[in-house]
Amino acid sequence: MTKDLFDKFAQLGTGVEGLKMLGGDPFSVTMEEVSSPTEAVIDGKPTVLFGTNNYLGLTFDDAAQEAAIDAVRTFGVGTTGSRVANGTYSLHKKLEAAVAAFMKREKAMVFTTGYQANLGFLSGFVGRDEYIIIDGDSHASIYDACKMSDATVLRFRHNDVGDLERVLRKLGDQDRNKMVVVEGIYSMLGDRAPLKEIADLCTKYNAYLAVDEAHSLGVLGENGRGLAEEVGVEDQVDFVLGTFSKSVATIGGFCASNHPKLDLLRMACRSYLFTASMPPPLVATAIATLKIMEERPELRQRLRKNTEAFYGGLAKMGFSLGPEPNPVVAVKLPGLEALMGAWRGLLDRGVYVNVALPPATPANTYLLRCSVCAAHTDEQIAKAMDAFAELKQELSLQTAAE
Ligand SMILES: Cc1ncc(COP(=O)(O)O)c(C=O)c1O
Repeated sequence: MTKDLFDKFAQLGTGVEGLKMLGGDPFSVTMEEVSSPTEAVIDGKPTVLFGTNNYLGLTFDDAAQEAAIDAVRTFGVGTTGSRVANGTYSLHKKLEAAVAAFMKREKAMVFTTGYQANLGFLSGFVGRDEYIIIDGDSHASIYDACKMSDATVLRFRHNDVGDLERVLRKLGDQDRNKMVVVEGIYSMLGDRAPLKEIADLCTKYNAYLAVDEAHSLGVLGENGRGLAEEVGVEDQVDFVLGTFSKSVATIGGFCASNHPKLDLLRMACRSYLFTASMPPPLVATAIATLKIMEERPELRQRLRKNTEAFYGGLAKMGFSLGPEPNPVVAVKLPGLEALMGAWRGLLDRGVYVNVALPPATPANTYLLRCSVCAAHTDEQIAKAMDAFAELKQELSLQTAAE
């Protein structure tokens, strides 16, 4: 009998078929038209978007669009080369300077995506006879980097400072480099790392600290630099990682640091070396949106206000939510059927959110993963609240146990 390479995915196939029977395939939703950061046409119907990571709502910003168009005219649509070959344009240098300035760091290095930034930085930088110590709920890009690295990888329980200390203490005072990696806001439950305590532990046990501010950049901190700024520990964070695919409203990733030798990583990170660089319009967009993030703190304030309205509204209705109000709002449901019913019910009412399922979720929870945007209007938030309220009644949703 001939073997089929696809056989091992049989369960995935039946899983998707099962989802379709429960309300549709949430993983192949198509935005037929997108008219603003918060509005699209899905299944032929105008829909309000509450699942985009577009925290500051800058995807349609006039200045960003003009910058992108101008860059296309000046530099073309792509670079067709790696940063270390023909793919470094003056624009990339300008973006690296802009990231360094925004993050108040000496240096920054830009990757083609945030995924590649984590992959390249961790796997290229931390190697044999060294340790990478990660939070159990880390993003896939951090896990994949660990797989690629020759380092010994150790894990501590999500946001559990005591467990991190146990790991660090066990390593004793071996003369080996240790890199602790955490995230500012975690992408599934929307909770923050206890960064002050973690930073103090890293100082105490002489470990490097890297913080992925993917979901907190532009969101937390007086100037939008993320959780480290918000809790006042930037000088204890050795490396900041981030993406341009959320509040920066395009795609790309970065590592920023005060370490004088950061540039050496350009020759060590495979995901920097062996892939084409960010295309000019996207580089120009990131430069433009970083400037807007600096000049318009009111966007962050509006985001916070919207977050409080959205999270607070759902909490009042009795939904079981992630532990704190951040722009990633996780609504926990008791199982697959309830989740799919709720997701379909929202979509039918013109409200789009993401679906997150085990095994990708913490503690195998079933989540409607919502994200709030500074560009959401009060009316859009009210519409989402009405849809959730109707759902709660109609489906008599039982909230999942905490
Ligand atoms: C915590 C975290 N790090 C990194 C990434 C990767 O970002 P990008 O979309 O730029 O590849 C994501 C994306 O969702 C993320 O949530």
